[in-house]
Amino acid sequence: MMKTLKSLFTMAVCLLTSTACKGTATPAGEAEAGAANPKAEAATTTQPADNDGQKALIVFFSHAGDNYSVGNIEVGNTKIVADYITEFTGADQFEIKTNKYDGMAYKPLCDLALEEQRKGELPPFDGSVDLTGYQTIFIGGPVWWGTWPQVMFTFFKQYDLNGKTLIPFTTHEGSGLGRCVKDLKEQYHDATVTGEFSMYGHDVRSGKARVEKWLNTLGYGKQRSQ
Ligand SMILES: Cc1cc2nc3c(=O)[nH]c(=O)nc-3n(C[C@H](O)[C@H](O)[C@H](O)COP(=O)(O)O)c2cc1C
Repeated sequence: MMKTLKSLFTMAVCLLTSTACKGTATPAGEAEAGAANPKAEAATTTQPADNDGQKALIVFFSHAGDNYSVGNIEVGNTKIVADYITEFTGADQFEIKTNKYDGMAYKPLCDLALEEQRKGELPPFDGSVDLTGYQTIFIGGPVWWGTWPQVMFTFFKQYDLNGKTLIPFTTHEGSGLGRCVKDLKEQYHDATVTGEFSMYGHDVRSGKARVEKWLNTLGYGKQRSQ
């Protein structure tokens, strides 16, 4: 009986994510994104451009399927943002992929994700990436229970990103960046973590211009202005 009540409570909290997480939310990235120079924005082309002349990498996780606010989606919200970044900067991508959550409905996924976080589980992911030559790495993911999904922590444990410039971005439904920046810094004490950005998951499909503005503030795109 207690177990059922606990489970129902967990689901309710998860369903109310956007409201419940607002208390701890730090949607700073949303405000930052508005800081772009409108003149430069108008003149920006979409040709790939890196802010220091080197190709950047985007490491991200994104869950396609049943989700809060957007229903059953074929392409995850964070992947859409990652694709915008590639379009504007030419950055390569490494997607942290796992089949573990395939086909899951939203509420059971919430329960599982919370359980993983509580236990500190590190679910495996497919593939590998050679980081040689990438000084700047965008780190993107959905906010799951206030921070990165546990499978992203698996990546963090396996890859040493110290010495690199890390640009975190999240999609969410109320938490903004949540604890993601803090938790990323804790993984990599000797990385430069900067330029963070967040966006509501239900806004990404109409949010390409906001992503471009954010990238402009980081120095991408402007140098190609005509
Ligand atoms: C398991 C799970 C936990 C979530 N936890 C939060 C949360 O704590 N705060 C929040 O704002 N949104 C939360 N969400 C909503 C997602 O962050 C949001 O829908 C995001 O855009 C999903 O991105 P994706 O499609 O790339 O996976 C959660 C969603 C799921 C599935």
